[in-house]
Amino acid sequence: MMQPLLRNTFAYASSRSAISRCGTLKLSVRLLSSSYTNLKICRYRELVADTPMVDLTHLVAKDANSELANSNVRVFAKVEFLNPGFSIKDRIVQNILNKAEDEGKLKKGMIAVAASSGNTGASTAMMCAMRGYECIITTSPKCSKEKMDAIKAYGAKLLVSEPGVEEGDPKHYIEMARLMALEDPELYFDIDQYDTLSNPEGHFLTLGPEIWQQTNGLVTHFVAAGSTGGTISGTAKYLKQQNPEVKAVLADPVGSIFTEYFKKGSYGKPKDFLVEGVGKGTIPGAMNFDIIDDVIPVNDQEAFDTCFRLSRKEGICAGGSSGLNVFASLQLAASLDPNTPAVIVTVLPDLGVKYLSKFYNDEWLTENGLKPPSAGQI
Ligand SMILES: Cc1ncc(COP(=O)(O)O)c(C=O)c1O
Repeated sequence: MMQPLLRNTFAYASSRSAISRCGTLKLSVRLLSSSYTNLKICRYRELVADTPMVDLTHLVAKDANSELANSNVRVFAKVEFLNPGFSIKDRIVQNILNKAEDEGKLKKGMIAVAASSGNTGASTAMMCAMRGYECIITTSPKCSKEKMDAIKAYGAKLLVSEPGVEEGDPKHYIEMARLMALEDPELYFDIDQYDTLSNPEGHFLTLGPEIWQQTNGLVTHFVAAGSTGGTISGTAKYLKQQNPEVKAVLADPVGSIFTEYFKKGSYGKPKDFLVEGVGKGTIPGAMNFDIIDDVIPVNDQEAFDTCFRLSRKEGICAGGSSGLNVFASLQLAASLDPNTPAVIVTVLPDLGVKYLSKFYNDEWLTENGLKPPSAGQI
């Protein structure tokens, strides 16, 4: 039987590279035809990061005075839902797991535990499947059915907290994961996305450099909503190290405490909002407010309407936080001097398919007091 001597030189280490999605597969070709050499084929897990950037500048026109259509302001977005787990969270989970394995904190036989609004849970479940770990994900009842089902599809165990539990309560999904890991640290490894600095570091090492390279260093503003704060904190840190003039703008759902905390240094009780995965009721350890230059609050209707614009005008079916980020970016673009060159970069954190039963469903919108998309609105 022919036994080709395959040697994939893009073994595990290359999955840590931010620069190339898929390296050339080098084959030891003693028995193989030379036509198999130099194939760009890799393991699925090596596809994390190195996402495309798309131009959304023409969407500015509707939200701004007509001059802006011809202005020097550009709005670009990183298509983060093209990561293997269909969200930006693959970047941080990869970094957290790599570091934990390298430092001996995560060993074979241990169980990874992650509290998540859904995407980190799916990334953790996917990467644990790839690496041979069991995992338990805790989430809130706000998490869409699609995200819950995806977590289970990767073979993870899913625990959903009761509705209406406040952050800090032992029955809150974040506390559930923390307490489980505290109870038996030899058995459980806590992904701890809200507080670990390996979270912003994942973006510092990958998303920041990619944005810098893809814009040839012309980026002037980075816009992102926050939950853990890892995306904005890690990415802005990298970009500001390259050019201290780069501004970091936090897009924030109306109801989240981040806006009030940024403006007043204090905050009251959070209010309900429907966009998933962003905004918070406490300040996570991964969030660095010192690096944030401004905050733009965005309400549910504005975020979802922008998703409908993206899907119906661009063919981009993205999650609610993408609409929120793009709305804030368009607002920012409208506020800038059209004669001064500016490059605003934002992220499309996850895939709209994760919300087909929610805001992409007219009945769900109406039940929740929101307007379905109509041609006029778009
Ligand atoms: C859909 C979505 N968008 C944005 C974010 C915010 O990212 P970060 O936690 O890095 O602030 C999250 C985080 O859970 C998310 O799930």
